Amino acid sequence: MAVSLAGRNFLKLLDFTPEEIRYLLDLSADLKAKKRAGEPHRYLEGKNVALIFEKTSTRTRCAFEVGAADLGMHAVYLDPSASQIGKKESIADTARVLGRMFDGIEYRGFGQERVEELAEFAGVPVWNGLTTEFHPTQMIADVLTMEEEFGRGGMVGRKVTFMGDAGNNVGNSLMVACAKLGIDFCACGPAEQMPDAELVETCRAIAAETGATITLTPDVAEGAAGASVIYTDIWVSMGEPAELWGERIRLLSPYQVNAELMELAADDAIFMHCLPSFHDRKTTIGEEVYQQFGLAELEVTDEVFEGPRSRVFDEAENRLHSIKAVMYATLM
Ligand code: CP
Ligand code: NVA
Repeated sequence: MAVSLAGRNFLKLLDFTPEEIRYLLDLSADLKAKKRAGEPHRYLEGKNVALIFEKTSTRTRCAFEVGAADLGMHAVYLDPSASQIGKKESIADTARVLGRMFDGIEYRGFGQERVEELAEFAGVPVWNGLTTEFHPTQMIADVLTMEEEFGRGGMVGRKVTFMGDAGNNVGNSLMVACAKLGIDFCACGPAEQMPDAELVETCRAIAAETGATITLTPDVAEGAAGASVIYTDIWVSMGEPAELWGERIRLLSPYQVNAELMELAADDAIFMHCLPSFHDRKTTIGEEVYQQFGLAELEVTDEVFEGPRSRVFDEAENRLHSIKAVMYATLM
């Protein structure tokens, strides 16, 4: 039967079948081709979407806004200081208000339970633009980027390794995406920063069906060996206190993605990162960390970030095409 996601929420990849994720990947590639060809695709003319951001964003916000405009929609951005959410109005009340005015709602914020509650009460599709636990739209862009390198379906049987803070929203989501799509996933980091044991068990059960494998290791050489993709993310995520930097640098420095580590991966390995990244001192936080700890490069070196194996800007562009696919698929 043909896949339809009309009317569905997009809260976490665990809610989707491999076929549904495949459909979103193909739709993303199709919308990317149309955008590149200058072919109009204003399929959702006249609809309105609300974008709630309780945490900051460059890529996700811009992808939703440009994506909405490309699809013929109007987007209203609500920043943390410009709405009543949480302070004067509950999530459930906000959901019921916005659901009366908008055709779809994006939410970026804190606990996953907040976006789940928004979805329960909104009555229109709700999209997770990042929570503490998951970052599902990022994954559609990421697998699309991998497939642009290794071919459609070409990731099956290949190994993707997340280096460092493997239990954060991006690490968790990458593990789920790989399990669903039959891709071998390795979380490589210290025991303290590994994905939650229950989520690992869930993903292992999914992997048993799809042929994927899920490995957890503290050993960098084992983690990198044979990997087609080396993926990393910042060591202190949004919403975590700056006081964690010292501890995270101590725990995660061995997992910094540098040229030596990339040499341990497969010959054709690519480097990926959801961004933003601390690979130099050209950011306020990067400079503060340098002043305090003397490290000019954190989760990835500038050499790898700027090097020939890096696909980080293709990945960033693909956020647009994949978020557009999520909106179109659920609002069509
Ligand atoms: N990767 C990502 O979600 O980036 P933003 O925080 O800029 O949206
Ligand atoms: N783990 C990061 C991802 C940013 C896109 C964070 O939550 O800050």
